[in-house]
Amino acid sequence: EENDQETGELKFNDIEEEEEEGYDKDRPPKISDFKPIKVLGQGAYGKVVLVQNKNTGLLFAQKELKKASIIVDGKTAERTKSERDILASVTEHQNIVKLFYALHDSRKLYLILEYIPGGELFQYLAKEKFLSERSASFYVAQMALALKHLHGLGIVYRDLKPENCLLDKDGYLVLTDFGLAKQSTTQDSENWCNSIIGTPEYCSPEVLRGEDYGTKTDWWSLGCVMYDMLTGAPPFTGNNHKDIIDKILKKKPKYPNYITSDAKGLLNKLINKNVNKRFDVDNQWQNY
Ligand code: ADE
Repeated sequence: EENDQETGELKFNDIEEEEEEGYDKDRPPKISDFKPIKVLGQGAYGKVVLVQNKNTGLLFAQKELKKASIIVDGKTAERTKSERDILASVTEHQNIVKLFYALHDSRKLYLILEYIPGGELFQYLAKEKFLSERSASFYVAQMALALKHLHGLGIVYRDLKPENCLLDKDGYLVLTDFGLAKQSTTQDSENWCNSIIGTPEYCSPEVLRGEDYGTKTDWWSLGCVMYDMLTGAPPFTGNNHKDIIDKILKKKPKYPNYITSDAKGLLNKLINKNVNKRFDVDNQWQNY
């Protein structure tokens, strides 16, 4: 039951330690240092709460994960550990959420993340219905930079969708939620799209077929998100998972006639069922 034999660079800190008199700025933070302000979101694996460090006044997004659910669902445990390890290894990138601390108490794990105040791209998209090609390209370029950075470190993100893209105070895009990201050396052909809560709309055909997959799966998802931004819906939709999956495997995307041929050209190269022909950022991307 004890999940505490972590030996990574980040140390978990127990809150059951005695409360100190005063505040030593050099001691590692405890969960009790962070005052909850409001709930920011509820993901498949736990909730995200806006918290304030009582000593410094700084705001963070605290992602909570119940240990009970982690113990019941071994997969979630793996994901949580991988989320922390991956975020810890991702170093500095302007389009990737920063992890400051990983803490735990007897019931929960807590990731103390950079607070990104502008909400989800998903909400922005829902409000605007769809975006101009000019504004979509602003977000696509930043997702491409984040993916290129991760791929360079051997990490496949695997879960690119508008819900995982946050907007910072200046409107720039920040990728969050590394619960599904995977070091590509530990890649397997597990059919993970079926094991997650949520829709498979942005999921690549090779992943749905349970085949080996790599960084190209993220470029497929980027194409689906770009399509979603330009039209207001992802390219393959349906009333249930089976319909959506059938379309992803068999159908070509249809384009409304206001989509320019430049955008269509790029989309067709990203939403390409043939992994070897699919575009990625190192493959003629500079033409766009
Ligand atoms: N929702 C999920 N993660 C978040 C973060 N880091 N900042 C703000 N809202 C979030």
